[in-house]
Amino acid sequence: MASPSTPVVPAAQPLTLDGVTHSYGAGFAVDNVTLEVKGGELVALLGPSGCGKTTLLRIVAGFIQQTNGKVVIGDRPIDELPPNRREIGIVFQNYALFPHMTVAENIAYGLAARGESRAVQAERVKEMLATVRMEGFAERKPRQLSGGQQQRVALARALAIRPRILLLDEPFAALDKNLRLDMQIEIKRLQRQFALTAIMVTHDQDEAMSIADRIAVMSQGRIEQLGAPAEIYDDPATLFVNNFIGSSNLLKGAVEAVDGSEARIALACGATWTVPARGRFEPGAPVLVSVRPEQMMLADAAAPDRIPVDLKLSLPIGGALIHDVAAPGGEQLKIAVPRRPGMAASAPGTAHAALAPHARPALFPAA
Ligand SMILES: Nc1ncnc2c1ncn2[C@@H]1O[C@H](COP(=O)(O)OP(=O)(O)O)[C@@H](O)[C@H]1O
Ligand SMILES: [Mg+2]
Repeated sequence: MASPSTPVVPAAQPLTLDGVTHSYGAGFAVDNVTLEVKGGELVALLGPSGCGKTTLLRIVAGFIQQTNGKVVIGDRPIDELPPNRREIGIVFQNYALFPHMTVAENIAYGLAARGESRAVQAERVKEMLATVRMEGFAERKPRQLSGGQQQRVALARALAIRPRILLLDEPFAALDKNLRLDMQIEIKRLQRQFALTAIMVTHDQDEAMSIADRIAVMSQGRIEQLGAPAEIYDDPATLFVNNFIGSSNLLKGAVEAVDGSEARIALACGATWTVPARGRFEPGAPVLVSVRPEQMMLADAAAPDRIPVDLKLSLPIGGALIHDVAAPGGEQLKIAVPRRPGMAASAPGTAHAALAPHARPALFPAA
């Protein structure tokens, strides 16, 4: 039971986008996006450049007034509020620290703008520097910091106002790979610690997969699929999502028969596969069967679903051995198998490719 002296930590608030649409003039940069980010959840907006991620984030932040739709925090619409009254912390891609201000002044900026006293500012700056492990850097200027340090200060500045919502726009894009991993862990830790509802924009699928509770895959201003990372990877809803996430082999074929939730597909390369079929597929319909490299294997000539292939090349890539093979129709396929130390590479030449036992290919209508 909370004692009267226990400070009240407000519960994390959900963030709801309801039919949000934005046009800069011609066409829609954001096209009827509806999304509920649960309290304390981190949703990644993932998609190619130009699909509307930044526009959507700037609408939530209040820098852009959307053409249509509503943004709601908790049960309160915030569309009438200016950015500084939305209690939202933002971290941009390009640091965006004020170059002429010290680290401490940067972190205190939002508090000063809200009219907080000097004492409150000083105390919060100290707390935030400790939070992002940057004690001792208070009097430096941004140019005296590395990229990773600048981004930690940007994070401290965003958190200093004790936001309800944290927005991150490609916050690690300018950092090198190892530093990026450190920062991803850091963000996740702070987001949990402060029970923040968060949206992170990224075009990096690995980043989205590792950091997000759920991923919204965007294309041309719309959300193509919203789901947990494993769901998006294992059950892509559309060919676009399938192709954007991970790598996959696409095999042409035609539906032979549909039986409940399974379809028998005659592949152009000769084999017949039975695969899960969501949605409606009529016999005869042209389809694409997508199968991830790690869901295929080299098989012996007796395997029932085998595709005779020409093995071109086997490459050891980290913990995997990648076989590059050509199917009869000329389709290039990749097969990834776990690599053990001392494992000999297969010799090029005639081979057989088959589905691995755990494989779950995805079926899409051919365009
Ligand atoms: N200020 C602007 N004026 C006109 N068009 C813009 C503006 N900002 C973005 N756009 C256009 O809106 C679309 C979405 O852009 P953006 O939200 O920046 O995408 P992303 O962040 O996913 O790369 C793009 O087609 C882009 O060219
Ligand atoms: Mg962007």
